[in-house]
Amino acid sequence: MNSYVKDFPLLRREMDGQSITYLDSASTTPKPQVVIDAVTRYYTEMGANVHRGVHPLGEASTAAYERARYAAAALIGASPSEIVFTRNATEAFNLVAQGLDLHPDDEVVFPASEHHSNYMPWRMWAKPVLVDIDDEAVPHYQQLRDRIGKHTKLVTLAHVSNVNGVIAPVEEWVEIAHKAGVPIMVDASQSVSHLPIDVKKLNCDFLAFSSHKIFGPSGVGVLYVRRDRFDSLKLFNVGGGMVKYHGEDRFEPREAPFRYEAGTPNIEGAIGFGAALEYLRNIGMDKIQAHSQSLGAMMVKELKALPEARVLGARVPPERRVALCTLSLPVPSMTQANIARLLADSHAILVSGGFHCAHVLHHRAALDGTLRASAHLFNDEADIEKLVAALRDLV
Ligand SMILES: Cc1ncc(COP(=O)(O)O)c(C=O)c1O
Repeated sequence: MNSYVKDFPLLRREMDGQSITYLDSASTTPKPQVVIDAVTRYYTEMGANVHRGVHPLGEASTAAYERARYAAAALIGASPSEIVFTRNATEAFNLVAQGLDLHPDDEVVFPASEHHSNYMPWRMWAKPVLVDIDDEAVPHYQQLRDRIGKHTKLVTLAHVSNVNGVIAPVEEWVEIAHKAGVPIMVDASQSVSHLPIDVKKLNCDFLAFSSHKIFGPSGVGVLYVRRDRFDSLKLFNVGGGMVKYHGEDRFEPREAPFRYEAGTPNIEGAIGFGAALEYLRNIGMDKIQAHSQSLGAMMVKELKALPEARVLGARVPPERRVALCTLSLPVPSMTQANIARLLADSHAILVSGGFHCAHVLHHRAALDGTLRASAHLFNDEADIEKLVAALRDLV
């Protein structure tokens, strides 16, 4: 058993007398005890609102909340003033889609493989222009140049796809988009907990991710906005906490990022998120990346060897993947979701089954659902072997 397992109380759970094998971190990660403790500490020792209290408990809450912003900024090489806390990554995309003041004829270019959260806001507020995907659901990245036109207002893509597990050539895309004078937003939901990220090196304009996929509580998201880009971003939600002055005739918003954080935020969630980032910092993102890519390589190799398995992104070399592997396995009269359920009920192996919020990807790849296994720092080779053995039995 890998030495990190002990940090996660959830992983001690049993189902019908069997220890669980958690291979569903792409959906959400379990939380280490230090995160649970940080949330409890907020309730037992602080419990006050942020940016309002004049008493010591309010000061303690605000300091802990703002420390989480510093930790999020440090994780991705940003300045704390470039970090907007949202509810999740989805809200970050919606904030940018509405903040950029897009019109129905404005075009947003992104791969057909994107998660609904980085797809639907662009169809609601603008016009999507898709980069095609191949038969393994990997984007034809080189199509970007042809897709950008005079109506393009934004380019966006997942750093790592939640379905094919492939690391996208973000820096190349940033260069192409910027050469055309177009800003670019990166969906780091699936990459931020597996790879070191430096937004200054990536040179992207916006980047989003969720706390719950990086060992923190749910209900907290991060939107990175490059400092100069705040000027082009209209207000999103309005209300308490985001104004410096509010009179009958006018109001004056606070400076960024606070003017995008109306209302009482998820204080305990952000504090827990800060603890999760400290936990990861102590391990080191380089170490996590090496582990993720080694497990990713094993997953593709072993799952590809199953009879008639169709593994997405299998042709992509291991150094361009993380520990996330999606496949379709033909089993008579069973959907991929049925297979996922059976793995849980018979073997206590937890994976995802279905469409993973990527209907267009599945439609284009002619797949009626898929099975997704995603591993993380607390998984090891034995977990993958267990999954492969269970699937081999089944087929
Ligand atoms: C690639 C990707 N983008 C965006 C999201 C949306 O994240 P959230 O539901 O936390 O907003 C997910 C979640 O599954 C994802 O995998």
